[in-house]
Amino acid sequence: MNAGIIGIGRYLPDRVLTNLDLEKMVETSDEWIKTRTGIEERRIAADDMDTSDMAYEAALQAIKDANIDAEDIDLILVATVTPDRPFPTVACMLQDKLGASKAAAMDISAACAGFMYGMVTAEQFVKTGTYKHVLVVGVEKLSKITDWEDRNTAVLFGDGAGAAVIGQVSDNRGILSFELGANGAGGDHLYQDTGSNIVMNGREVFKFAVRQMGESCITVLDKAGLSKEEVDFLIPHQANIRIMEAARERLGLPVEKMSTTIKKYGNNSSASIPVALFEELEAGKVKDGDLVVMVGFGGGLTWGAIAMRW
Ligand code: ACO
Repeated sequence: MNAGIIGIGRYLPDRVLTNLDLEKMVETSDEWIKTRTGIEERRIAADDMDTSDMAYEAALQAIKDANIDAEDIDLILVATVTPDRPFPTVACMLQDKLGASKAAAMDISAACAGFMYGMVTAEQFVKTGTYKHVLVVGVEKLSKITDWEDRNTAVLFGDGAGAAVIGQVSDNRGILSFELGANGAGGDHLYQDTGSNIVMNGREVFKFAVRQMGESCITVLDKAGLSKEEVDFLIPHQANIRIMEAARERLGLPVEKMSTTIKKYGNNSSASIPVALFEELEAGKVKDGDLVVMVGFGGGLTWGAIAMRW
């Protein structure tokens, strides 16, 4: 048996913040943001909607899609760098909101690679048969740690949540291979300062991401004994279209074989990969039996990739 996604959900706030809106807030332009990042608009959560509320909406949908009850969940893993509070964890808050009384719960902090870390952790419990259902959520309310006066970062981020139920699937399905990694020496390139805003050296993060995304894609394919010609779809972390394009080109995939939800949602950090996967499934672009590569990177520095047969 393998571990794979048996249910998926996502939540995005209604409020849209466009590049034109940002032009009124910082010295920037729609043209600059579009050409340098690929972002056209992003979603911003209302004041009364915190991280655990968005996690709840996405999780409900994933549980329904998996055709299970909240009581059937053995473990809840929430990947986030924007918890409601330092503790209790978002995972514990979610456990209560869902009524998932039998589930253990913890948060995972691996920035934008968090959903990959969560999926791989879930796989270890499910593949061994220890747990039957693990709920993995990637959720961020980045708007609350964004410096809205810093044009270097304010144009990049958005809020949202994606969730997946990991359960047992047949041998040739689900997670086929993975790679996780970290380089703490690069921590200064992207962090949350004590004043609680995001601080970023965009150029350094860009260089790291371009190299790491491509390498991790190739590594997971090698580990699974697959070639890049066999890949049907690429779901990269939606950070910057130019970083994503570099990964796509490394795999030799045509443009239509890569998810680009970044246009609509910006960078949702740990939520970006499950949100993108959800939308590509809904659009019929990821189909039954497809080989999908998911790859993310983030502050830490961290990275993670998964080769998965849908
Ligand atoms: N509008 C207009 N001009 C801007 C803006 C803006 N929003 N932001 C920066 N500029 C200016 C800069 O000041 C600079 O001006 P200068 O030449 O006079 O100094 C010029 O544009 C070029 O700046 P660069 O930093 O060289 O621009 P670059 O092409 O590298 O793009 C960007 C910047 C988009 C931030 C890019 O470096 C990037 O995407 N890096 C990766 C960031 C990322 O993915 N972070 C998230 C990681 S995931 C996580 O864990 C949250």
